[in-house]
Amino acid sequence: CGIVGYIGNEDARDILLKGLTNLEYRGYDSAGIALLNADGIHVFKEKGRIAVLKKTVDPAVHATLGIGHTRWATHGEPNQRNAHPHQSASGRFTLVHNGVIENYNQLKADYLADVILKSETDTEVVVQLIETFANEGLSTEAALRKTLQLLDGSYAIALLDTEDKDTLYVAKNKSPLLIGIGNGFNVVASDATAMIQQTKRYVELMDEEVVVLKKDSYTIMDLDGSTKIRQPYTVSFDAHDTEKGAYPHYMLKEIDEQPAVMRRLLQEYGGSDGTVTLDPAITRAINDADRIYIIACGTSYHAGLVGRHLLETIAGIPTEVHISSEFSYNMPLLSQKPLFIFISQSGETADSRAVLVKVKKLGYPTLTMTNVEGSTLYREADYRMLLFAGPEIAVASTKAYTAMIAVFSFMAVAAAQKKGVKPSFNLLHELSIAAQGMEQMIDEKALLKEVAREYLSITRNAFYIGRALDYYVCMEAALKLKEVSYIQAEGFAGGELKHGTIALIEDGTPVFAFATQQKVNNNIRSNVEEVAARGAHTCIISMDGVTNHADDRIVLPNVHPALAPLVCAVPLQLIAYYAALQNECDVDKPRNLAKSVTVE
Ligand code: G6P
Repeated sequence: CGIVGYIGNEDARDILLKGLTNLEYRGYDSAGIALLNADGIHVFKEKGRIAVLKKTVDPAVHATLGIGHTRWATHGEPNQRNAHPHQSASGRFTLVHNGVIENYNQLKADYLADVILKSETDTEVVVQLIETFANEGLSTEAALRKTLQLLDGSYAIALLDTEDKDTLYVAKNKSPLLIGIGNGFNVVASDATAMIQQTKRYVELMDEEVVVLKKDSYTIMDLDGSTKIRQPYTVSFDAHDTEKGAYPHYMLKEIDEQPAVMRRLLQEYGGSDGTVTLDPAITRAINDADRIYIIACGTSYHAGLVGRHLLETIAGIPTEVHISSEFSYNMPLLSQKPLFIFISQSGETADSRAVLVKVKKLGYPTLTMTNVEGSTLYREADYRMLLFAGPEIAVASTKAYTAMIAVFSFMAVAAAQKKGVKPSFNLLHELSIAAQGMEQMIDEKALLKEVAREYLSITRNAFYIGRALDYYVCMEAALKLKEVSYIQAEGFAGGELKHGTIALIEDGTPVFAFATQQKVNNNIRSNVEEVAARGAHTCIISMDGVTNHADDRIVLPNVHPALAPLVCAVPLQLIAYYAALQNECDVDKPRNLAKSVTVE
């Protein structure tokens, strides 16, 4: 989701709508704006894209104060009722919110037993609480702070009060939010690109801060009301930088974009009736094959390992995964009717192309999964599927990796559907939940930065262990860490480390264990004990309600086990990112690497 706000002298409507358009990549299930003028509050919200909202906003309403929101729904229908802004019972308060309030049911029971809620959102609970406390005699600012003190979860909030037409209230915890400073006006936005047309000066907000925004002043305070002084910084964009907006690095931006990519893929490959829609020719080619050979390099190879698991478990198709450069010169015995699937973010990797050329000569069918339409591998294969991840600029691949896994899940479910095999879970639903889980992990940057500091600031090496799907995640985790931080890292199958490599474990060696898969949870935890007994500094990453124990360092939100790698990807990437920053590495352009390697 994305939020914007404006307070100044100009017409807020157009500024808000433009800002929302810039934020649309964050979601477009529904959108809304609220404008506050002398006549009162005017709320416009609609299901669908900003373009739909634009048509419904009354052009006769003029205001110099307003807020806006673009939403992507996960739970609950993306309808007009659930769209933001939300209002309190009397209509005095109007609010937009990003994030997840985890204890909203409890708050409802504790404080709002007498209030009839209009929507199914956690957000409405927030605005109703503010009104409840204001009715008890608190000022708006105090009622807001009191409400925030009760919330568990993440939020970026912008709030309007009809009884105070000169103020915009803002608050943030975990979800992104910036204040943009203008001449005689101020703005609020989820990221600076949204409001870059208005101003280049921004004030960063820390977690658990509230801002009272007037058109020519901003007062930052903590939840206790003590004020803080913070100067704005100037965003300096050149044409190249504009693409990464206010982000310090493309890698961070691309990590953050992953939930949005999942949503895009749901749109591209999800059918309206809850089934997957794929080009029938592709589904036929997959089901005609007696064995699939996945061919890829680097991160794409790691996505292929997860893909193999999905194709075999969901569609029942025997699948092998091969490193391109090995396959070319060390080809295994092929089955009778193979299908070759090439996975390549760039679509240009020479090692992969060499295999494509070879197997085409042998007359076998080929499919390319790539992020770049029109690339060599895209053009030269018989069939193609796009990743829809948007340009990936950081050399270390992030969003393409998760997009590849998601596309494999669509592929597997489409093949199963066509065969008449009922998949054991509803992919579209579970993928939405996984996207939400990714978003929650993206909000955990402070924790992941701390983990990188605690485990990786004075080490030359690190190990990742996991079993089953978690093993594949470990391989990608180790590659990411190596690529961007230059810390030597290896991903191992949990049971394998003891067969030799455990000799490297000494006092303080960092060992990260991914433990998301119930059936191997006890086994991987035994492996953690083995290394801990030899002095390793262990960090367990488990899944809430499935594998977690009380003292696990990182607990991922609960998602379907087959899609766990999607949610694991976020912490593994962010840990690598923060380790790279600590080591003062060139995050986006690590030494010796290239984004697409066009030599064999
Ligand atoms: C390069 C990049 C890696 C990438 C690999 C495969 O080595 O640095 O990040 O995973 O190529 O690239 P591809 O474009 O084929 O996915």
